[in-house]
Amino acid sequence: MLAGNGLVYPVLGFASCVAFIYMSLGDLRFTFQQPKMGFVERNGTHFFVDGKPLYVNGWNSYWLMDQAVEEFSRPRVRAMLQAGAKMGLTVCRTWAFNDGSYNALQISPGHFDERVFKALDRVIVEARKHGIRLILCLVDNLHAFGGKAQYVKWAWEQGVALSSSNDSFFFDPSISKYFKTYLKTVITRKNSITGIEYRDDPTIFAWELINEPRCASDASGDTLQSAYFEELQDWIEDMATFVKSMDKNHLLTVGLEGFYGPTTPGKLSLNPGEWASEVGTDFIRNFKIPNIDFASVHVYPDHWIAGQELQDQLKFIYKWMKSHIDDGDKELRKPVLFAEFGLSNRNKNFQPSQRDTFYKAVFDIIYKSVRKNRSGAGALAWQFMAGGMEDYK
Ligand SMILES: *[C@@H]1O[C@H](CO)[C@@H](O)[C@H](O)[C@H]1NC(C)=O
Ligand SMILES: *[C@@H]1O[C@H](CO)[C@@H](O)[C@H](O)[C@H]1NC(C)=O
Ligand SMILES: *[C@@H]1O[C@H](CO)[C@@H](O)[C@H](O)[C@H]1NC(C)=O
Repeated sequence: MLAGNGLVYPVLGFASCVAFIYMSLGDLRFTFQQPKMGFVERNGTHFFVDGKPLYVNGWNSYWLMDQAVEEFSRPRVRAMLQAGAKMGLTVCRTWAFNDGSYNALQISPGHFDERVFKALDRVIVEARKHGIRLILCLVDNLHAFGGKAQYVKWAWEQGVALSSSNDSFFFDPSISKYFKTYLKTVITRKNSITGIEYRDDPTIFAWELINEPRCASDASGDTLQSAYFEELQDWIEDMATFVKSMDKNHLLTVGLEGFYGPTTPGKLSLNPGEWASEVGTDFIRNFKIPNIDFASVHVYPDHWIAGQELQDQLKFIYKWMKSHIDDGDKELRKPVLFAEFGLSNRNKNFQPSQRDTFYKAVFDIIYKSVRKNRSGAGALAWQFMAGGMEDYK
C-alpha cells in the first residue's frame, strides 16, 4: 500500500501511512507517551511507590470532572494541576461522581453520560501528565452533586419501599444495588484516551468510598442510636469487599472526619463536641476493617469549635492530629492521611495570617510524625480553585 500510493500520490501516501500507524498502534500509542508511574502501595503504617516511602503533600479540588465537561471551563483543570505540580504537590483529591445534578455522570441509576465520563478520562490523563495522583471520591454524604439523598430519591421514584430517612442509603438493599452498579461502572471504566481501565491506572492513588459519611443525620427517634453505628460499619465492610473484588491494585479508604465512637469511650473527650460522638461514625472500628488500607481524618477547628480563639483551635488540632497518629501506629497499624484541613476566609474577622499559622501547625505535626517514622502520612488542603471560580464554594 505504501509503495503503490507513494509512487503515484506521494503526499496522500504519506498521510495514509501516518493514519495507518496511528490506527494500528491504537490505544498503546498513548500509553507509551504517558509518564511512567508506579502504583501506590501500603506496608504497615507507610505508603510506598516503587519500594520507596511516599509522603503526601496535596490538595482538594472537588470540581475537576465538573469543569472538564464543557469547553469554556476545561482549561481550569490543566491550570490547577499545573499550579499544583509547580507548588511541589503530588496528590489531588477530587470527586468522581455527580449523581443526577447538572452535567451528571450518573443520570439515573445505572445510566451514565458518556460526555461526562470523557471529562473524567481527561482529568486522569491531565493529572498523570503533571505527575499528580488522584484520590477519587465516589459519593457524598452531603447533597451537592446528588449525594446519598439523590440515591434515596431515585429509590422513591422507582417505587421501592423504604424509610424516608436519607440514611436509608446505608441500609436499603435496592440502593446498595444502585451504588454497586455505579462502583463497578467507574472502577472498570476504560479510559477513552489511554485505553487503560481505571482499576489498572496508577494515576489513581486510592478510591474513597464516601465523603464525610454520617449515619443518624436525620434520626427520627424510633431507631436506637447504636443501630446507626452498625449500619455504617456494615455498609463500609460490604462496599470495601465489593471494591476489592474488582480492584486489587488500588488502596481504599473512607472519607471519615475522624470522630471517635462507642468502641473507644476513653477517646470521646478528644472529639470536638458531644455531637461528634453521635453521628454514627467510630474512627477506630471503621478503619480496622481489613479491606480499608488507610485512615482519613479531617481537620476543621473553625467549623467544629467555632467561636474559640485561634490559639485554642490550634491546641485542639494538635491533640486531634496527634491522637489519630497514635491510633495509626498503635491501634490500626495503617497510615493516617489528613485528607481535608482548612480555615475558611468566610469566618468572622478572617485574616490570611491566621491561615498561615494554621497551615504551619498542620505541616509541623506531619513533619514531626515523618521524622519519627510514625503513621502521619500527609495532608491535603481544602481547597484550591483556578482563576475565574471566585463564586464556587
Ligand atoms: C514490609 O516491610 C517489612 C519491613 O518493615 C518487610 O520485611 C516486608 O517485606 C515488606 N512487605 C512488602 C510486601 O513489601
Ligand atoms: C519505620 O517503621 C516501620 C514500621 O511501619 C518499620 O518497619 C521500619 O523499620 C521503620 N524504619 C526506621 C528507619 O525506623
Ligand atoms: C434528604 O435530603 C434532602 C436533600 O438534602 C432533603 O431535602 C430532605 O429533607 C432530606 N430528607 C429527610 C427525611 O431529612
